[in-house]
Amino acid sequence: MSQNAPLVNVLYGTVTGNAEEIARRIHNELPSKKHLQQGLLRNLADYADVPAFNKPTLSSNVYNIIVVSTTGDGDPPETIRPFMRLIRKKDPSKLQGLQYAVLALGDTNYENFCNTGKRIDNALPKLGATRFLKRGEADDGVGLEIVVEPWLKNMWLDLERIAAEAQKLPVESPVSSEASAEPSTDKESPQAEVDELELLVKAISIEELGFDETRLPKMFPPKVIANAVGETGAHQTPLSVSPSYDSSVVRRATVTDAKKLTSSDCEKTVWHMELSCDSSNQIKRKYRPGDAFGVIVENDPSEVQRFLKILQLERNQVLRLCKESGKEIATASVLQFVQQRIDLRAMPKKSLLRAMSDHCLDVEERKTLLHLCSRDGRRQYTEQVTKKELSILQLLEDMAPSCRAPLSLFLDLLPAVAPRWYSATSSPELDGSSVLQFAFSVVEAGLATNCLARLCQSFADGQHSSEVLLIPRESDSTSHFRPPASLKTSYIMIGPGTGVAPFRGFLRERLHQMSQSEDKEVGTTTLFFGCRNRGKDFLYEDDLLELQEKRALDKLDVAFSRDGPKKVYVQDRLMACAREVAEVVKSGGCLYVCGDGGGMAQGVHAALGDILAEFCCHGKAEDGKAMLRQLAEEQRYVRDIWFHG
Ligand SMILES: Cc1cc2nc3c(=O)[nH]c(=O)nc-3n(C[C@H](O)[C@H](O)[C@H](O)COP(=O)(O)OP(=O)(O)OC[C@H]3O[C@@H](n4cnc5c(N)ncnc54)[C@H](O)[C@@H]3O)c2cc1C
Ligand SMILES: Cc1cc2nc3c(=O)[nH]c(=O)nc-3n(C[C@H](O)[C@H](O)[C@H](O)COP(=O)(O)O)c2cc1C
Repeated sequence: MSQNAPLVNVLYGTVTGNAEEIARRIHNELPSKKHLQQGLLRNLADYADVPAFNKPTLSSNVYNIIVVSTTGDGDPPETIRPFMRLIRKKDPSKLQGLQYAVLALGDTNYENFCNTGKRIDNALPKLGATRFLKRGEADDGVGLEIVVEPWLKNMWLDLERIAAEAQKLPVESPVSSEASAEPSTDKESPQAEVDELELLVKAISIEELGFDETRLPKMFPPKVIANAVGETGAHQTPLSVSPSYDSSVVRRATVTDAKKLTSSDCEKTVWHMELSCDSSNQIKRKYRPGDAFGVIVENDPSEVQRFLKILQLERNQVLRLCKESGKEIATASVLQFVQQRIDLRAMPKKSLLRAMSDHCLDVEERKTLLHLCSRDGRRQYTEQVTKKELSILQLLEDMAPSCRAPLSLFLDLLPAVAPRWYSATSSPELDGSSVLQFAFSVVEAGLATNCLARLCQSFADGQHSSEVLLIPRESDSTSHFRPPASLKTSYIMIGPGTGVAPFRGFLRERLHQMSQSEDKEVGTTTLFFGCRNRGKDFLYEDDLLELQEKRALDKLDVAFSRDGPKKVYVQDRLMACAREVAEVVKSGGCLYVCGDGGGMAQGVHAALGDILAEFCCHGKAEDGKAMLRQLAEEQRYVRDIWFHG
């Protein structure tokens, strides 16, 4: 390859892994591109590792592809905040010479669609960078692939063209590239037998059914192929075929303690669960209070049975799942793939409905699916699928019981069951680095929490202790949800409900640090906790009182929302202690908020803004809000907020 071959770096910003998956795919395809050089693959959190961002003028032959998602309410993924600060600099030559293209991921169900990608794409030219390809905006609400696939195709064409110019090569015609992207016709069919009736139904064209192909989602070649290779028994099955399962990071942990933190007459149940990794299976990097761990979850067994039944899938058949390139992903039984690699509660995207329609034996069902995914059926899709949060399983049972699509289609177009995240409530210093404790609230019909509750109950009943598969959170290496480095820094923690979990970890670590420190001069700590009733759901009451007695916690302020005549929430308690809160901020202290991101996070945010306005900004509301933003920039106002899945 010529030295002039453009070098392509791929950078991503992600919360749940979509952007990383696409970035990795681009990076992995680079070696097969004759005239391009594979550069770095990096999280934008680590942008400083990428020379193109340090000395961009020296790197005019370097092309940077940025794949980034939006989270919260139009916010960037937490880990890339330092990068977002970099691009706010007002220096028109800061990134002079840097060439880039942005692929923004978002969801039109949210107001600030693709906000992070837009912000990056608009900011970089102001720093002297050059955009070489128009931004892509992929909508997870209807299927990322609808935009991602053509955008990638264009990106490769553009890069090939740039490479040809740089190396004075003949420019390949787009037609030949297009052709190479077509599915190869001699690929083995994923299903050996195709039902005759299905062939007959398929023979009726889209036009004959009254649909216009151009108003339907585009069909793309499958990204995965599954071939039957026999029956279970003859094959060794892997421990897990979940895409979250990477044996180098996954930890197997055993339940070593479990107790209910709520009373038997409480409306909800919260469990304290302790997991231990054995010595051969230690958590690689010592975790810190504030870290969250993902629990790898399987589909509910009864839902798995219903799915197998409706599609008439043979549970013991062994499939070899491969990428388009032929590279094997996993070999396992149909049952295991259904349990672990597709999310049976996922909402079917339009591209899946389009693909499923080809496999319906009933013409009316085929028409229903085609209408739902067509542009003309937009309203019905919103009413019948999005608003009802219809799962693929419900859709199959209610609208397409005659569908006989092969499993490979679902493996290709459905997401896998996502890991569920839990914040450690333990301290590695005090509890041991191979011990992890969590507190979780059991959610009605919740997949993970009901499964974990069963494990906890069986431990509490003295039955066998079960195993759980855990992964550390991708962003932990750069997480900012950490207690202050110095014992001298005062801080306020606001964590109602299970939001208290990481703060118990913070305080346990503090207790340990105080016992090791000679210096008796330490800052103050205040915890605002909230629950319904003192007698029912005051989580970790004894532990918190003990931490207070031992001076790791100076003040515990609890808002009981159902104990008195008036509902009291943490934000009310904050307002009642406004002066104290402001004093902590004025002394250089930090504010932490953790828990469910619904009303609580907004209420607390508004209360803190008001407090700062009154005590630090001469009553000016706008200045209070600006001060809160500034504190967030300085990592002195840190939030770990989760939303319902
Ligand atoms: C970084 C991070 C840390 C987290 N830490 C904790 C923690 O320490 N403790 C903890 O309990 N949770 C925590 N969560 C939330 C947790 O990951 C799960 O989302 C939650 O336990 C529900 O999982 P599930 O599989 O039981 O429910 P799902 O099967 O995902 O949801 C089933 C249904 O219930 C709804 N739902 C989900 N959660 C709730 C809820 N809390 N209240 C009402 N309805 C809900 C969903 O919208 C869905 O309709 C954290 C999340 C993140 C991202
Ligand atoms: C809690 C949450 C908040 C989100 N907020 C937004 C938003 O404000 N704007 C938007 O365009 N997309 C939003 N999204 C959609 C994501 O950007 C989209 O699902 C994307 O594919 C996620 O990519 P990732 O896995 O790389 O993070 C949100 C998703 C979640 C789960």
